[in-house]
Amino acid sequence: MNMLKRLSIVLVLLLAVAQGASVTENKPPTVIVLPQENTLVHELPLSVVVKVDSNAVDAVKILNASGEKTIDINGSKAIYCKTIALVLGDNTLHIRSYKKGQLIDEQKRHLYVTSPLYSQYKYPPTQYKRQFFHTDRNESACRSCHDMSVNEKQGIAFIDVTESNCYACHHQLTTEKYAHAPSVNWLCTSCHNGKVGSDNAWQKGRSKFLVTKPVNSLCFSCHKKNAKLWKSYRFRHEPLDSGRCNKCHNSHSSPYKMFVRKPVNSICLGCHKDKRMRVKQRDSDCEGTIKGKECVACHSPHASNKQFFLMDEEERKKLESKQHGRER
Ligand code: HEC
Ligand code: HEC
Ligand code: HEC
Ligand code: HEC
Ligand code: HEC
Ligand code: HEC
Ligand code: HEC
Repeated sequence: MNMLKRLSIVLVLLLAVAQGASVTENKPPTVIVLPQENTLVHELPLSVVVKVDSNAVDAVKILNASGEKTIDINGSKAIYCKTIALVLGDNTLHIRSYKKGQLIDEQKRHLYVTSPLYSQYKYPPTQYKRQFFHTDRNESACRSCHDMSVNEKQGIAFIDVTESNCYACHHQLTTEKYAHAPSVNWLCTSCHNGKVGSDNAWQKGRSKFLVTKPVNSLCFSCHKKNAKLWKSYRFRHEPLDSGRCNKCHNSHSSPYKMFVRKPVNSICLGCHKDKRMRVKQRDSDCEGTIKGKECVACHSPHASNKQFFLMDEEERKKLESKQHGRER
């Protein structure tokens, strides 16, 4: 090899080293571990996890349409975590890093929250993808500080729910006023046991905590009395028959009685859009015109032996006497 050629190889190598160095210098002081870009979200609380160079950064702010949260970087560790609230539809997270009050880095994440209850949020734009979290690979980034194994005993409620291994990251799921008994007792794996069933074979390996059964058979595995009663009725509501309990109920908690996802009337009117119209046009005998009455004052949301799922006095009293979910 002649001298010139050797020299040029050395030069190229030197250049590569220099470039390598400049790349590490330009590395952002904050790396977003979660969420991934273009994540499709179903339930509202979301985890944000950042890896921070604590020499360069002393505060990280997470901004979105529902507010701002600040993480103080105290230098004692490299990874910081925060649960944040999102809004329905498009969300842009701005993750800003500060040193002594000066903005030194800003990164963005785009997310989309979908909901079956609102026609405008039912079909997310195609760039958003469902990202499952609980795989060995993803969990390995958290294991040094969090235990993600299942520590609940089948059917036995925690006396102190903070002892559940799921609580540390998912505590926001059960904080709403009306909560579902198995969720509020942190018996998460009564529904999320991760076994692969016929309903989710295509999701095999994507998460350890999938809901394995179609939703209605999942619910009916505990609510056996309801299942028997409703199946015996002559008239059954379509969303019940097609197994879409979670269209109306949030399995964890919600601000509304029986942890329905929205106030009852707006749930009903979400699908029965024509109801308001018809009422105005007076071409229906639905007594939904009576001011201040909830649809479920007259209609069972599930099933009945009467047409239009109308309830008699006794059935109505029964529904009203229910606990409406555990009040907190
Ligand atoms: C260096 C240790 C460490 C690592 C690694 C770590 N966490 Fe955390 N995490 C914590 C600590 C400590 C808390 C409690 C923080 C607090 O109370 O402010 C926490 C809290 C959380 C919370 C609740 C935040 C809130 O606002 O209540 C979530 C969610 C979370 N972590 C998710 C994760 C995920 C997901 C990973 C892996 C990608 C991870 N963490 C990795 C230490 C860590
Ligand atoms: C280290 C924090 C952490 C712990 C502990 C944890 N999770 Fe999660 N989990 C997450 C994150 C992050 C997601 C993604 C959604 C989000 O941002 O909250 C998630 C998502 C899920 C999902 C949706 C499916 C999926 O894989 O994305 C289920 C179900 C779930 N967790 C159940 C559980 C159960 C049950 C436990 C307790 C055995 C548990 N989690 C413990 C962080 C955690
Ligand atoms: C009564 C059954 C039930 C119980 C108990 C329950 N869940 Fe769920 N969970 C569901 C259903 C149904 C969904 C919606 C899943 C779907 O539509 O695929 C869900 C969704 C979730 C999601 C969001 C996944 C997504 O679709 O984005 C997380 C996270 C989650 N559950 C965690 C938990 C944790 C943690 C607990 C324990 C406190 C718990 N769940 C208890 C039934 C349940
Ligand atoms: C692991 C068993 C279990 C599963 C699975 C389960 N539930 Fe429950 N559910 C309970 C218990 C226990 C209660 C509280 C006792 C009661 O009031 O009947 C309850 C209460 C309720 C209530 C309030 C009833 C009342 O009278 O206050 C509703 C609504 C409800 N569940 C809906 C659902 C839906 C929808 C699903 C499916 C997503 C489901 N449940 C799955 C155990 C379960
Ligand atoms: C169309 C919406 C809708 C669907 C679908 C639906 N529910 Fe309900 N459910 C409600 C409403 C509304 C209430 C009563 C709320 C109130 O009285 O304020 C209720 C109450 C309940 C109750 C307590 C009252 C009772 O009759 O025992 C249970 C249990 C229950 N639902 C379980 C289920 C299960 C299981 C499914 C799926 C098989 C389901 N629901 C599907 C809307 C619905
Ligand atoms: C997820 C969409 C959805 C929700 C939410 C919903 N319904 Fe329905 N409902 C349907 C469908 C679909 C049918 C069957 C198609 C039809 O007959 O119009 C139906 C049928 C009915 C019928 C019988 C109509 C007839 O002509 O036989 C009544 C009454 C009714 N729903 C009342 C309610 C009430 C009260 C609520 C709120 C508790 C409610 N619905 C919530 C979808 C929904
Ligand atoms: C005071 C009792 C009462 C209330 C409250 C009520 N309804 Fe009705 N509804 C009826 C009766 C009675 C019928 C049967 C009418 C008939 O026989 O033609 C009916 C019929 C219906 C029907 C089927 C026939 C049609 O007109 O399409 C639907 C759907 C319906 N109601 C939805 C609703 C919704 C949604 C609400 C809440 C916004 C509501 N109802 C509130 C008593 C009521």
